[in-house]
Amino acid sequence: MPENRGQDGESLWKFAEARGISRRHFLRLMAVGGATAVLAACAIPETPDATQPLPPPPADSLGSVAPARFKDPSPFIVHDDKSMEARLENMQGLITPNRHFFVRNNSVSLDLNPDTWRLSIEGDAVANPLELTYADILGLPSRVLMCYLECGGNHRAMFDIVQGQAASGTQWKTGGIGNGEWVGASLRDVLTLAGISDNAASVLLIGLDTESPEQGFRRVIPVEKAMHPDTLLAYTLNGEPLPRDHGFPVRALVPGWVGSSSIKWLGRIVVSSGQLWTRNNTTSYVLIGDDYPPEGEAQGKVAGMQSIKSALALPWPSDLSSGLHRIHGYAHSPYGHIARVEWSADGGAVWNDAELPGPQPQYSWARFEFAWDAETGERVIMTRATDAAGNTQPDRVPFNEKGYLFNQPVPHPIRVA
Ligand code: MTE
Repeated sequence: MPENRGQDGESLWKFAEARGISRRHFLRLMAVGGATAVLAACAIPETPDATQPLPPPPADSLGSVAPARFKDPSPFIVHDDKSMEARLENMQGLITPNRHFFVRNNSVSLDLNPDTWRLSIEGDAVANPLELTYADILGLPSRVLMCYLECGGNHRAMFDIVQGQAASGTQWKTGGIGNGEWVGASLRDVLTLAGISDNAASVLLIGLDTESPEQGFRRVIPVEKAMHPDTLLAYTLNGEPLPRDHGFPVRALVPGWVGSSSIKWLGRIVVSSGQLWTRNNTTSYVLIGDDYPPEGEAQGKVAGMQSIKSALALPWPSDLSSGLHRIHGYAHSPYGHIARVEWSADGGAVWNDAELPGPQPQYSWARFEFAWDAETGERVIMTRATDAAGNTQPDRVPFNEKGYLFNQPVPHPIRVA
């Protein structure tokens, strides 16, 4: 039997209470057999084989399947029925309103019934496989994070526009990103309740969207990231229950990692003592190209952490009148706060400092601003961010076939009349 990483008494009580166990019963169980006895009273009886595809969820937990997604597409650049890119020019403050938050699906948005939804936690590296309800998750201690969520392919179109070599996949420009306030339980608390063992290595998060690749979109994250208190099982976005397009009732939120790690409509978590390999860390979400040697079973470098970037909150291309303008945009880094944003209107010969007004909570993007005296003609502005750890956007990113993590300064075209 693997060792437990330890139990948090308060979390355990809340968990047991939400399963209908009285305080008296809880104390008796604790006295008789400690946390193991409490968990046994809550546990599901058997551990399904973690290597098998996701079994179809009970029909009544699926609710209905939407045509593709629920949101009004009109504020977005609609690439196809799975990919709606935000228009950064619609954003002013730090928060991306829900109706402007980009959507990226691999099949369709689900309309799940929270009363019948279940989340299972299983695998060879948990001592007490569990099945949790929505109420169980809501009953755990909550955390609030302001955090950006960015598709690993955001800025992909720039490989073509800037380097002249198109990468395959949706041609996102700068709007495959949103910044929201999320509330959720720590994934760590749930893994602790399930008795995660000291030899756990990989945590596989699986969605209920069985029409997506691998019969449920899924992503492996290392145990260290899964056990970080800020890796969430999120259930609200900007003060509302998670919208259906964003994974209602519960999704993962993995701060600083490519968006594909933040699994929506989460249904199953598999904790493994070995390194797990699936489509999304072997062929997809992998940087494949001459400059990216293969890692393990991956065809190249696995796209885990995001990269430091900046972009203007302007349409692409923009039309402006000549004269003085206050321009703003957003910069973000998975490695820490944005310390500096520079801008250049002459192709990078001269860089000027932008202002960084306002707060930048951890994991949030930063708003930057500067005044620009626009002269008539075809203009280009580039921006370059540096974070507090000293990371700066590079002058050039080596090409990768699927176009992930493009983060060299973007030449934003502006027509000044
Ligand atoms: N989770 C599931 N279950 N199915 C998906 O298709 N798409 C992933 C991720 N989580 C996806 C998923 C990708 S590729 C991204 S970029 C983000 O969700 C997008 O999150 P959003 O649609 O809430 O903005």
